[in-house]
Amino acid sequence: MRIFIDSADTEAIKRCWDTGLIDGCTTNPTLISKSGRDPRSVYDELAEMGVPDISMEVMGNAVEMQNEAMKLYTEYKEVATIKLPMCQDGLKVCKELSNLGIRTNVTLIFNAAQAILAAKAGANYVSPFVGRIDDQGYAGTEVVRSIVGLYQQQRVSTEVLAASIRTTQRLVRAFYSGATVVTIPPGVFWNSYQHVLTDVGLSIFEKDANG
Ligand code: G3P
Repeated sequence: MRIFIDSADTEAIKRCWDTGLIDGCTTNPTLISKSGRDPRSVYDELAEMGVPDISMEVMGNAVEMQNEAMKLYTEYKEVATIKLPMCQDGLKVCKELSNLGIRTNVTLIFNAAQAILAAKAGANYVSPFVGRIDDQGYAGTEVVRSIVGLYQQQRVSTEVLAASIRTTQRLVRAFYSGATVVTIPPGVFWNSYQHVLTDVGLSIFEKDANG
């Protein structure tokens, strides 16, 4: 049961990382663009922090993605997970990287058929977008459950990394549905500490402890 932080805001990630409960990070071009930074300056800072698994997304055609992936792997070695879009070129590059033993994450997964192809391409992770499936009126966590069930039945080693998680409820349901990794924004991480009865109980304990 691993928790990744889905962000390119290194200050926010550092606060989460310092809790000792975080196992990795995922980024994407939108998150990098929101940070206003060059992707490599974000990856450098995360690698320096000690984050052991950083999803770094590559874009373009197959040749461009392959070239960028090889550069990223050369620079970041085993902390790099190359994130590829779910499309023909993305899976082609995924297969090549997988043959070289480079860790991969196929993103923008919305159904089990796509997850089958990504597994065939040797992906280490597939990222179903739970929140965006919810937005369409279907339960995103049911897609997680169907991919997990299918992989188990077929003895596929690809892991399901649930993404596009916007609430603590979806974090919990994603793990219940069998995801082995869930990536969450910092806000969802901090909300997971909270319960009103914990606050009430803590203040009673504090009062009683002090006589
Ligand atoms: O990991 C994917 C995530 O960043 C997308 O989230 O909320 O934009 O669907 P969202």
